[in-house]
Order: sequence, then C-alpha cells, then structure tokens
Amino acid sequence: MKTIPLKLPKVIGHRGLAKFAPENTIDSIRKAHEHHLSWVEVDVMLSRDNIPVLLHDETLDRTTNAKGLLTDHDLQHLLSVDAGSWFHPDFKNASIPTLHEALTVCDKLNLSINLELKPSHHNEERLLLETLDCIHKLELHCPHILFSSFNKSLLKLCATTASNFPLAYLVDDKDNEASIIQFAKEISCYSVHLPIELVSPALIQQLHTLGKKVLVFTVNEQLQAEQLIAQGVDAVFSDYPLVL
Ligand code: G3P
Ligand code: MG
Repeated sequence: MKTIPLKLPKVIGHRGLAKFAPENTIDSIRKAHEHHLSWVEVDVMLSRDNIPVLLHDETLDRTTNAKGLLTDHDLQHLLSVDAGSWFHPDFKNASIPTLHEALTVCDKLNLSINLELKPSHHNEERLLLETLDCIHKLELHCPHILFSSFNKSLLKLCATTASNFPLAYLVDDKDNEASIIQFAKEISCYSVHLPIELVSPALIQQLHTLGKKVLVFTVNEQLQAEQLIAQGVDAVFSDYPLVL
C-alpha cells in the first residue's frame, strides 16, 4: 500500500455528528464542521440502480419515513424520502444524500472523510467500483479519504484495487484478539478500528507494534474518551464533538 501520511484528529464525527442532526445526512456532516471537527465517518451503500448513497441500516425503516430494503429502491425514489423527521421535525427536509453530494460538501468544508463501505447481497466489487468512480469523477481537494469495512472480502479488494487510498480494518465485536491480530497482519491497512468492548491495553500495544493506528467506536462519554487516549488509542469515533 502506498503510504499516505494522514493528519488524524483525536475525534472523528460518527455518521456526521449523529447526536446533533440525523445520521448520514448533509446536515449531520455540516454539524460536524460547525462543531470544529476535521473528520467525519459515514456509511456507504448502493441503491438498486447502483448509486452510492449514505445509509447505515440495510433497510430504510429506522432513519426514514419509507420502508424496506435500500437495495429494493432506485435513487430517484430514495431522493424523495424524508430522512430527517424521525430525528426532529426541524430536519423534515433532510434527504438520503448521494456519496457525490457528501463528498462535494466535505470538499467545500475541507473535511476529511472515512467512508465505511457496507456491501449487501455480495455486491462488494460493485460497491467499491462505484465508490471509486464517484471519487474519480470529482476533483476533490478535501484532505483525506479513508476507506473502512467490516467485510473482509471487501477489505482485501480495497487493498489490491484501491491501494492508493488508506484502508481501515473495522473489527466486529464478535471477533477475538487472536483473529484480530491475524487479520491485521494479513491485510495491508493503515488502521484498525475497534468496538469499545474489545479495547485492552495489550491489544492496543500489539496493533501499534504492527504499525497500525488504533481507533475506537463509538465513544460518547468525555471521560471514557480521555481514558482511551491515555491508554494509547489514536482517535475515537463519537456522536458528540468531544474535545480531546
Ligand atoms: O466506523 C465506525 C463505526 O461507524 C462502525 O460501526 O455500525 O456505527 O457503522 P457502525
Ligand atoms: Mg459506520
């Protein structure tokens, strides 16, 4: 992997800034910027017609006024969906953003972005290709784009097909320490992102010895975030603009 020196902050806004605006919307990305964060994480999935959009769940049910699988809907319909009222009536005009829109906004705001790639129905290759295509069509100046995924096949694909982008191995909370270390050795990645339940000083140290940055999700308590940073964690994902 080409080594790209990243300027990593201590706090990355989770799904934009998920406690201040509906997650994975343009409002949420703007909130992160308004609260002086320099990085955001968002979740990227494909619509039925293979357009990368921001959404966390496989279905529209929790975060929109529509129902059903995202992959059963074309972009044209997704754009008409209300993705904000569930959070607060003030956000009734929020829609599901395309990746193109999200990257354009990040570029304007000089925000770096962590794209968590979430494949469904074995569309790993298509998801990566459409994401890369979207990035390449834009002339972006935003400082950094970091890819991440829980999906190991997709991570391997990123390491070969998208090796000019830094990569993060997202660890599932069901993984154990031995398998985490094993895969971290196997995959050429910049960082390993741990669920908070799995963090231990020994694991942090082992990952650092492998030359990986260690990031932790999702940390919403100031004190807990301070303790993690004191233990050696490089950065945390938070729904709040914690100050570290
Ligand atoms: O990338 C960190 C975090 O977003 C991973 O979990 O479920 O919030 O996407 P999730
Ligand atoms: Mg995510």
